[in-house]
Amino acid sequence: MSKRQVKVSIYRYNPEVDAKPYYKDYDIELDPLDTKLLNVLMKIKDLYDDSVSFRRSCREGVCGSDAININGRNGLACLTDISSIKGTIILRPIPGLPVIRDLVVDMTQFFNQYHSIKPYVIDDLPLPERERIQSPEDRAELNGVIECILCACCSTACPSFWWNPDKFLGPAALLHAYRFIADTRDQATNERLDELNDPYRLFRCHTIMNCADVCPKHLNPTRAIGKIREIMVKRAV
Ligand code: SF4
Ligand code: SF4
Ligand code: FES
Repeated sequence: MSKRQVKVSIYRYNPEVDAKPYYKDYDIELDPLDTKLLNVLMKIKDLYDDSVSFRRSCREGVCGSDAININGRNGLACLTDISSIKGTIILRPIPGLPVIRDLVVDMTQFFNQYHSIKPYVIDDLPLPERERIQSPEDRAELNGVIECILCACCSTACPSFWWNPDKFLGPAALLHAYRFIADTRDQATNERLDELNDPYRLFRCHTIMNCADVCPKHLNPTRAIGKIREIMVKRAV
C-alpha cells in the first residue's frame, strides 16, 4: 500500500523559553495503520520532534485527556480520522484555558467548576442493607449524561465560558449538575437548584449550542441545561 504525506502545523509555546507562541510545520509520512490523529501526534513525537507536548492516555475516547482544537474545531485526537481532515492539519490547544506548553492546557478552572456542583450522590438517609435501588426508568433518565468523559471540548467551545470561566459553570459542569438533579437517589435537589439560581452559574448559557456540536461522545449539554431550567420553573409555580 502506498504511503501518504500530511502536513501538520502545531501551535508551539514553552513559556520558559519562548517570548511568544508560534506554529511549527511538519511533513509526515503516514503508514497505512496511521488512521487517527493521535497516531500522527505520536509519530511526530517519536520520529520527528520529541519536544512537542500533548496529553493522551487511553487512545479509545475514554479518558478525555487528548482534547485539542483541530482546524478550528475541538475534538479528541484519538477519535479523529485523519481522512476526515482536508489539507493541512492545524492543531491548537483547546481555547480559553491557560496554555502550560504547546497543546497542554491548565484544566484547573474547568475542574473547579466541575467540583463546585458536588459531583456525587448526596443522601443522608440510613444506609440500606444492600444497594440503593433505582427503577430501570429512573436509571434511563441518566443515559446521555453519565457518558461524559470530562474532556472539556464543550466548555472550551462555549463563548460564555470564555468570557466568565470563574462565574459561568460551563456546559460540562452543568451537564453533571443535571446528572445529580435527575438521579432519584440524590436527596439534595433543592440545594442544587438554589446553587444554580444566580445570573451567571446557569443563566449565562445563551443556547448557542457549540457544546452539543463538538461533543465527541455525542452528548447534549444544551438539553441538560434546558431540563434544569424547566425543573426550576416547575419548582417556582
Ligand atoms: S448552549 Fe450554552 S453552554 Fe452550550 S455552548 Fe452555548 S452558551 Fe455554552
Ligand atoms: S459533555 Fe461531551 S464535550 Fe463536554 S466534557 Fe463531556 S464528553 Fe467532553
Ligand atoms: S486518549 Fe483518552 S480520550 Fe483520547
